[in-house]
Amino acid sequence: MELSLLFYPRLVVELGIGDGTLLETLAKRDRNSIYIGIELDNEQCVQARSKIALSNVIIVNSSFEDLVPTFQDESIDQFIAVLPDPAFIDQKKEERWKPFYKSLYYKLKKQGRFRLVTELTDELLQPVSDDRYLAWADWLKSCFISLGFTLAGQQEGAPRQYLSRCIKQFRADPERIRMITLDLLKQ
Ligand SMILES: C[S@@+](CC[C@H](N)C(=O)[O-])C[C@H]1O[C@@H](n2cnc3c(N)ncnc32)[C@H](O)[C@@H]1O
Repeated sequence: MELSLLFYPRLVVELGIGDGTLLETLAKRDRNSIYIGIELDNEQCVQARSKIALSNVIIVNSSFEDLVPTFQDESIDQFIAVLPDPAFIDQKKEERWKPFYKSLYYKLKKQGRFRLVTELTDELLQPVSDDRYLAWADWLKSCFISLGFTLAGQQEGAPRQYLSRCIKQFRADPERIRMITLDLLKQ
């Protein structure tokens, strides 16, 4: 672990930060934590680095699938994933992405949390009914509970104070793009 990390009581990791809008907001409000943002796309990393000038932020241009397994077990206070790509949350790809979230679970400290914001759309881009939304939410929760997490909270939509490029777009179409936030706890 880098020496500078030892001065921060908390370690928070955001997966797939895009242009870093949310990472910057969170890190500004919480100067007691160090925020590591992981992003695969180099251009997005360049954008994020050019606008974030905070001493408690580290941006890494890498795949979180490669990086997360290298963290020490039980070393992370919180992971955040906002609108991950379908490869990491799609119902049809469950068997592909579950091992990644299991490894993330091992990296969390006890009482550590994983905050996931994700979305459901209809394949024909019709409005998503309540029935479909509720069945999907149940499936999603059961996936993470089967990995060992406890559900600490859930809400429809993204947290009010969260803003990112994708959240902004999705909030403009709430009937066809229904988001959920899950707060998942490692006990
Ligand atoms: C749908 S975007 C969401 C971006 C941002 N969280 C937001 O809300 O605006 C998904 C992001 O995850 C990044 N990404 C996809 N696979 C990744 C991986 N394996 N490792 C790191 N980042 C990844 C993409 O490059 C993209 O920026």
